[in-house]
Amino acid sequence: MMKYNYGTNELNNWLVAETQFSSKALGKAEATMCLGNGYMGLRSATEEHYPGEVRDLLVAGTFNKFDDNEVTELPNAADVTNFDIKIDGEQFSLDFGVVKEYVRYLNLKHAELVRELNWVSPQGKEIRFRFRRFVSFADKHIIAMKLTVEPQNESVCFALESGINIRMTNSGAQHFSEGDRRIFDKRYIQQCQTTTQSKIDFVINTAHTVRLGGEQIQQDVTMEMARRKVWLCFNIDVERGQCLEIEKITTIHTSRDNDGPADGDFATIRATGLAGLKSAIAVGYDGLFARHRAAWDEQIWAKYHMTLDSDNEYDLLALRFALYHLTIMTPMHDERMGIAAKGMSGEGYKGHSFWDTEIFIFPFYIYSNPAVAKSLLMYRYHGLAGAHKKAAENGYQGAMYPWEMAWPTDGEVTPVWGAVDIVTGLQTKIWSGFIEQHITADIAYAVWSYYCVTGDQAFMDEHGYEMIFDTAKFWSSRLEWNADKQRYHINDVIGADEYKEHVDNNAFTNYMAHFNIELAMRYYETVKAEKSELFAQLDSKLALVETHAGWLDRIDKIYLPQPRPNDAVIPQDDTYLSKKIIDLSKYKNQQKVGSMFYDYNLEQANEIQVSKQADIMMLFYLLENKFAPATKIANYNYYEPKTLHDSSLSLSTHSILANDLGHYDLAYELFERAARIDLGENMHSSDEGIHAASIGGIWQIVVMGFAGIRMNAGKLRICPKLPEKWSKLSFGIYWQQQQLNISIDKQSLMIITATDQPVTLTVRDQEYSFTNELIVAI
Ligand code: BGC
Repeated sequence: MMKYNYGTNELNNWLVAETQFSSKALGKAEATMCLGNGYMGLRSATEEHYPGEVRDLLVAGTFNKFDDNEVTELPNAADVTNFDIKIDGEQFSLDFGVVKEYVRYLNLKHAELVRELNWVSPQGKEIRFRFRRFVSFADKHIIAMKLTVEPQNESVCFALESGINIRMTNSGAQHFSEGDRRIFDKRYIQQCQTTTQSKIDFVINTAHTVRLGGEQIQQDVTMEMARRKVWLCFNIDVERGQCLEIEKITTIHTSRDNDGPADGDFATIRATGLAGLKSAIAVGYDGLFARHRAAWDEQIWAKYHMTLDSDNEYDLLALRFALYHLTIMTPMHDERMGIAAKGMSGEGYKGHSFWDTEIFIFPFYIYSNPAVAKSLLMYRYHGLAGAHKKAAENGYQGAMYPWEMAWPTDGEVTPVWGAVDIVTGLQTKIWSGFIEQHITADIAYAVWSYYCVTGDQAFMDEHGYEMIFDTAKFWSSRLEWNADKQRYHINDVIGADEYKEHVDNNAFTNYMAHFNIELAMRYYETVKAEKSELFAQLDSKLALVETHAGWLDRIDKIYLPQPRPNDAVIPQDDTYLSKKIIDLSKYKNQQKVGSMFYDYNLEQANEIQVSKQADIMMLFYLLENKFAPATKIANYNYYEPKTLHDSSLSLSTHSILANDLGHYDLAYELFERAARIDLGENMHSSDEGIHAASIGGIWQIVVMGFAGIRMNAGKLRICPKLPEKWSKLSFGIYWQQQQLNISIDKQSLMIITATDQPVTLTVRDQEYSFTNELIVAI
């Protein structure tokens, strides 16, 4: 059972807690309380085993393809968190004996997982346990754990088995060949392994420190090795009233690390890992934790400094939860890596990156941490190799980005087969990797937003223009001439709404493709006029002059679906509006997403006016100036009742639009729903991992929605409208490389700049230019 107001005093609204353990809902805490630092993600499975647990340790960018029938995925590297504990020979498990005073919580501020409980063994021995762990934000290779054991009524014999277990799989797929293993000095355990196909070496080192009554003891241990497992056995007598402390520090290094030896030399990685472990163990849990906390304070909480006064305190917790997960899911350290749709909190979506990054998470980074935004774009820049491969395989030109991306050069990695088809009993074919193509324009859109918000000209010169030209080149080759209508169509796609497959002229796709080409044409003129050398380089790389001629010819002939004259509804695609309308209330009121597929298969859903997620709404949000408010309202009212929000990406877009359209209560209600996708009471919604895009969406609802921050035609616009329950919101953003500290309450908007540079912006359509401070009554 989850508890959201567990924290008090300085930890008020910082703790996500579980006050009752259930071995039937393990995934909830495993995923939502996941630890990580962008380098790795450690799912928060308990120290002891339970059936149905998922004990993932995923390291960013270490993709491996299990066999030819599967797609590449982040391999589950090892289990280093298992403590197999026996008290006087009885197995410690919350499924036996009596559990008292149980709490497990994730401290978002300190990025630490804590579990405290009293356990009365079946024999009646009561022991106080305190488990703590963190994944260091100060040294990305370190996982630290600490266990405190205090017998309450009688002395006990405490037995522990702990080490490194690489008998791990991703739902059965084993990604490693076992390498050397060794125990040095009866203390330092080293286990090596190499991924089977991508040949990435992993070196995992671990060591324990044991203290009894505050004194470190040299415990006699037994060393054990078995197939894919190496561990130590401790047996310690602990008297009643005595305190036993066990620290376990683990380090992970791989040959993919960008801070390892340039040639990936295995011996060097092994030596570095072991040396790193020895110095970490000398510092100890508390010392490492102090560094870790300081890193979170300085690099995250001080940097993002968001505060919120709301009558509903849960809102602030939800916002902090979002910032926490955004941080741990992002491989900020390496521009060859992207953000996975589930972060590194589970095996869902295999560690792949989707449009979730550019459209849902990226705005947070552009405004809050532009250096990371740039790194994420660089991932896509490196991905041009894979995008060219995909375009060529499909008979197109330019850069056609994969719907799902793993290592940048892999190209398309979307699996081909998915869930059961309830009609045929076969697996449903996943068409997204073939025909969900809007991602290419979404990436171009992200480049454009980054440039407008940051003004990073060097990025544009070195990478950005090329990405925009290359993606526009793809779209130009993708357009299909319709002789009857005398216009270009984009046929046979999946739009943002994945419940409509093989449709022609999905409005979202067509408009975004048009946007991409139009942008390229604009930048073509700029680069040609102002940067002749760069122009020549890009021309020789992309045949720019010739490609431009194609854009010129096509741009005005791309079909952009228009609002119907009678009701202003824009057809989502050529056939959506002619499909049958059914009563969707059963599915709108569902407890579990996707419940429609217990009654229909995808082919049947294709024939119904039902949507999985925001599609036209997405268009209104991204290209807001292209549509009149009346059109937006008409379409919201038409499509929302048909939208099941079966994708976690849907609610945030609807909330922002509802706010834009003046439906403030609805906007807040949708915010509350979005904020409960992972954090809320549904104990199974996060089993496969948290929903990264939805978490980015929570930040967007607050900043782009309620605070009304937008980049509008290259300019900063602020149009705040706080929900009834909120009295004050403050946060920082970067605009053109300068920090603006923004505070909004019911009466006023205040902006304080960090430097003396003048700032120009509009607040509710009124333009202001100021230096240092601006206060506007609202
Ligand atoms: C959604 C996509 C999303 C993907 C990964 C799907 O269910 O329909 O829009 O990109 O999940 O989050």
